[in-house]
Amino acid sequence: MTDTGRGTFMKEKKPDLKPNLNIKTNLKMRKKIVAGNWKMNMTFDEAETLLTEIADALDDFTLDNTEVILCPPALYLEMASDVAEEASFSVGAQNCYPADNGAFTGEISPVMLRSLQVDYCIIGHSERRKYFNESHEFLMQKADALLRHDIHPIFCCGEVLSEREANSHFDVVRKQLEESLFHLPVEEFKKVVIAYEPVWAIGTGVNATPGQAQEMHAYIRQQIVEKYDYETANNTTILYGGSCNAKNAAELFSQNDVDGGLIGGASLKSEEFLQIVSAL
Ligand code: 13P
Repeated sequence: MTDTGRGTFMKEKKPDLKPNLNIKTNLKMRKKIVAGNWKMNMTFDEAETLLTEIADALDDFTLDNTEVILCPPALYLEMASDVAEEASFSVGAQNCYPADNGAFTGEISPVMLRSLQVDYCIIGHSERRKYFNESHEFLMQKADALLRHDIHPIFCCGEVLSEREANSHFDVVRKQLEESLFHLPVEEFKKVVIAYEPVWAIGTGVNATPGQAQEMHAYIRQQIVEKYDYETANNTTILYGGSCNAKNAAELFSQNDVDGGLIGGASLKSEEFLQIVSAL
């Protein structure tokens, strides 16, 4: 990745470190991530306040092999990148269009995101699949376009309730991975973050149980072993998303194959979001 010259995530331990913050021994080498997907929320002033509060608080965290990513609405990406210059978080976009430039009114390209030091971009979110009819093929193009410009896709996958009830959730998720990501050469695939977000858990207050999350994450990792190799699978960060909050984060994150979270509603309040970060 391009070195944006921003804060390092391997900060020295500070004497006033809060107890139990990220001291858990992590035998996995893969990076742990908590990402906030703000969706279509916040005015400019509210966004500025939230960014600043999180930036200030993160100064007290030891983020060892751990990354915090904030994904505000596109209008606030420039401000987020400015704040991030002096802070320990990275900036992610919520969407992009898979072309470098051109006559695509209203769209934003990976080239533009890169010019604002945006390092991550969510793709495949169920809300975009549902409300904007985004297809596997279109998401494949987005992944390619982002990787061409050194931006990590955060690729969301997950089943709707009827698919889980029909016991087809594994097939649904496997197809999402196969059709939009598994064309990538291994070196490109290694730059992708995966987020398992069961659609029935998003914004409902009903999170997947830690067991359900672990089961699907292990399944996803196994698919990566079969498509690529063990090492690639072992190093891929797989996040859980869907009604993850300060109360349930620690148990979800304690699962072997759950490497952090993609947080919606609970990322809009600094205190709760930071509690989730400290649950890693
Ligand atoms: P909630 O955390 O609000 O359920 O949203 C999850 C999500 O969609 C994150 O991308």
